[in-house]
Amino acid sequence: MLEKYGHGGDLLTAAEQYGIPVSGFLDFSSNMNPFGPPSVVGEIATNQWKQLARYPDPAVRELRKALADRYGIEPESILVGNGAAELIDLAIRLIQPTATALARPSFTEYEEAAAKTNSKLLGIPLSHDNDFTPQADQLSQAAAQADLLVLGHPNNPTGQLLDHTLMRSLAEDGVELLLDEAFMDFVPDGDEVHSLLKLAARTPNLHVLRSMTKFYAIPGIRLGFIVSHPDWIRRLRERQVPWSVNSFAQWIGAAVLREAEFERKTREWLAEENPWLTGQLTALGMRVCPSSVNYLLFALPQDLSVKQLQRLLGRRGILIRDASLFEGLNESYARVAVRRREENERLVRELGDAVRQWEAGGEGGIDE
Ligand SMILES: Cc1ncc(COP(=O)(O)O)c(C=O)c1O
Repeated sequence: MLEKYGHGGDLLTAAEQYGIPVSGFLDFSSNMNPFGPPSVVGEIATNQWKQLARYPDPAVRELRKALADRYGIEPESILVGNGAAELIDLAIRLIQPTATALARPSFTEYEEAAAKTNSKLLGIPLSHDNDFTPQADQLSQAAAQADLLVLGHPNNPTGQLLDHTLMRSLAEDGVELLLDEAFMDFVPDGDEVHSLLKLAARTPNLHVLRSMTKFYAIPGIRLGFIVSHPDWIRRLRERQVPWSVNSFAQWIGAAVLREAEFERKTREWLAEENPWLTGQLTALGMRVCPSSVNYLLFALPQDLSVKQLQRLLGRRGILIRDASLFEGLNESYARVAVRRREENERLVRELGDAVRQWEAGGEGGIDE
């Protein structure tokens, strides 16, 4: 199984499984900005490596200040972490929920982090018939039954945003809400319209997570942050391992926030490529969930199983995410990242071949 360590983008496992070198894969299984890290990342690695002889700033001052300036909030409302993944775990450990409500499907780490605190899990089932968006009555019921609600905004793997007005009113009603905005940078008008980050900076029961690893394509250095009321952030920081955010991550984080051209180019690319790929997949008979970000969840036609399709494409050097591994989805669901046009064209071509092969030969048409 490609996701044997729980996530997409595991090129080493793919290389072992398909006998192709890591460099031979086109990876649609993890949702990375295809422009790669901005070049300033290379300059920092080249020019600042000697400074690694010193400890990182334990208070992450420069990066917190840069984030505070960008979002118009106080640095005291921000805790930076070793990826958003660290902060999901840390936040749930601090909250110690008795019962955690989470959408199904959603990012598996929520469930795993809640399980580590022995919290009861309450699934909010999402349905393709309404584009996998949680309904208002489901959310209010969940809020009444659980002492923590963890939701992706936009959600992974669906790419669907939550209703931000509804979220604001839940937060204002005092519901303990952990909102994962890891992909919000990709959303058109994300910060201006949809994000609850600013509200979180002054609301003790609202905690907004952001990741810097996807939009800036730097998952290898691990970098994310969480925003909430300064009192809550102080309690969270007390539980964090000292120097959790390494020096490279701090320097790079502050530097990429100045990359306005990279940000503009990314948004322009996605505005074109998301609808293009959605249209192409739909034309192939896939039932695509509308997405506001750089990945698309879709149901395969007929009885074609995602595991068979993943194997078939993997052997051709194309990696897709088996979305049946998300609680709440079955064997007909796959997720792909949106990449650059030529790469997306190759995906569409190979997928089309696979589906035609399937249609021609049924199960026997795809070799196991
Ligand atoms: C929805 C979501 N939240 C958080 C994370 C973790 O991000 P990071 O790389 O910042 O730890 C991921 C990673 O895939 C994700 O998909």
